[in-house]
Amino acid sequence: MRIITFGTFDVFHAGHVNILERAKLHGSHLIVGVSSDELNMSKKQRYPIYSQEDRLHIIRSLRCVDEVFIEESLELKAEYIKYYNADILVMGDDWAGKFDHLSNICQVIYLPRTPSVSTTEIIEIVKTKRY
Ligand code: CTP
Repeated sequence: MRIITFGTFDVFHAGHVNILERAKLHGSHLIVGVSSDELNMSKKQRYPIYSQEDRLHIIRSLRCVDEVFIEESLELKAEYIKYYNADILVMGDDWAGKFDHLSNICQVIYLPRTPSVSTTEIIEIVKTKRY
């Protein structure tokens, strides 16, 4: 089974590795679409701390990841799924229900997020030095 997932994966943390390792358990080939810097700007109103090249480099280096690409647009999910011949789309449950319309081209699975960690929170902690 070929699995595909998407994300920004900025300031890489344990929640990121958890979802990628759990995604891989659903198949044998894991493909990760890493949001471009511009897509992140339009999605989250800020540029990532790490560049898209560095985020891609980090994700590509993981043992559970087989293939990576830059996701240029949120609207192209169906095209990416078809292009990479994915059988299953895995997303964190912060997106629950949002990709159900793609279940006509692949299976859609939402996995629970790891509690108490996010890139946004790490950035806030570092900014305000609450550590
Ligand atoms: N993720 C997760 N558990 C977390 C944080 C993220 O499972 N604690 C998952 C998301 O559900 C998504 C993937 O990791 O499938 C990439 O998420 P991303 O948005 O890049 O990470 P966040 O830490 O949620 O970033 P932000 O705070 O900027 O929204």
